[in-house]
Amino acid sequence: MTQSYDELKASPRVLLGPGPSDANPRVLKAMTTPMLGYLDGEFIQILDETVNLLRQVFGTGNKLTLPVSGTGTAGMEAALCNVIEPGDSVVVGINGYFGGRIADIVQRCGGAVTAVEAPWGSAIPAEDVADAVKSANPKLVAIIHAETSTGVLQPLDDISKIVKDSGALFLTDCVTSLGGQPVDLDRRGIDIAYSGTQKCLGGPPGLAPISFSDRAVEAIHNRASKVQSFYLDMTLLEAYWSGEVRNYHHTVSMSMIYALHESLRVVLEEGLQDRYKRHERNAAALIAGATAIGLKPIVQEGYRAPMLTTINIPDGIDDVDIRNRLIEDFGIEIGGGLGIFKGKAWRIGLMGESSTQRNVLLVLSALEKLLAEAGHDLEAGAGARAASEVYAQA
Ligand SMILES: Cc1ncc(COP(=O)(O)O)c(C=O)c1O
Repeated sequence: MTQSYDELKASPRVLLGPGPSDANPRVLKAMTTPMLGYLDGEFIQILDETVNLLRQVFGTGNKLTLPVSGTGTAGMEAALCNVIEPGDSVVVGINGYFGGRIADIVQRCGGAVTAVEAPWGSAIPAEDVADAVKSANPKLVAIIHAETSTGVLQPLDDISKIVKDSGALFLTDCVTSLGGQPVDLDRRGIDIAYSGTQKCLGGPPGLAPISFSDRAVEAIHNRASKVQSFYLDMTLLEAYWSGEVRNYHHTVSMSMIYALHESLRVVLEEGLQDRYKRHERNAAALIAGATAIGLKPIVQEGYRAPMLTTINIPDGIDDVDIRNRLIEDFGIEIGGGLGIFKGKAWRIGLMGESSTQRNVLLVLSALEKLLAEAGHDLEAGAGARAASEVYAQA
């Protein structure tokens, strides 16, 4: 028996969760560009341009820079499975959900993990990394730049120096930070970094930009064993993306490459510094507004990731009910807590296209209405007023 379905439809949403964020309309339009063959000269030129644009946004001259097929986790796997061999010592910063995922993947690669832990909502102290590096003598140190489960933006400069002095490779997860805060790979001496297209780059999920320094490439070329994953083997991908003669490896998604190409053009047209400032300003307004209606930010000032703000859910407020009503009544998605923050925290993302004054005022007004109806004690209009004061200052 055949069954028919209506034409696909998705309700318009304002995506203010941990990602995906709203995609830029220019990016969605670029995705409707007709297919080209993966070895077509015109497509190869688009690949070359995409890599050049990516280098600018990553702040690197690294030759081995490209978008891996797959989401941020594919970037994480590619970063680790190419470099880690069985028995390798790896120091991993774990102060949230995604540090734990790195440790898991390192173990799947046969690596020995030394965890440097910090409480959820705090940054990893550089001294603890120094101690771990001294005792574990690692091949690689891995740190999350913006921990999306907690909203912490990890300071990287001191850790980078410690790692460099030890001779280890420095890996940073930039899934949530790229395009929203400086990652500056070359200035910071980051050897391996990966990201995702669906957060501060303003595209749909589907590609994981990644970059390896010459030192990291040397480590890949000096492996004793083949990279276990064929799909993510950088030596094979490198040949397709930048070899003298381009050879088939796998069929890359043309539509996603078109999307990334356009989203990187949008990012650079705005200007990296202006984009970072926009993220900071909207986060400051959100936090001022949230505080004014009695919602407490979880992360200490100075360590807050401007693209993802975590807020304590007030006592007596039903997490799921408020989030459902935000979607049903206002079309707004915010994130619930992940891991140990489940039911305790909201994660409000202001990433890429979603980081706007309009969205800040909208989510504050919506939360204010729903919280007041749920019996939370607040002064009507206080959230939007406090946020507007931040906007009036600059
Ligand atoms: C910091 C961080 N790393 C890795 C990932 C995994 O990315 P994805 O869900 O795109 O596979 C995420 C996703 O939210 C993330 O926030």
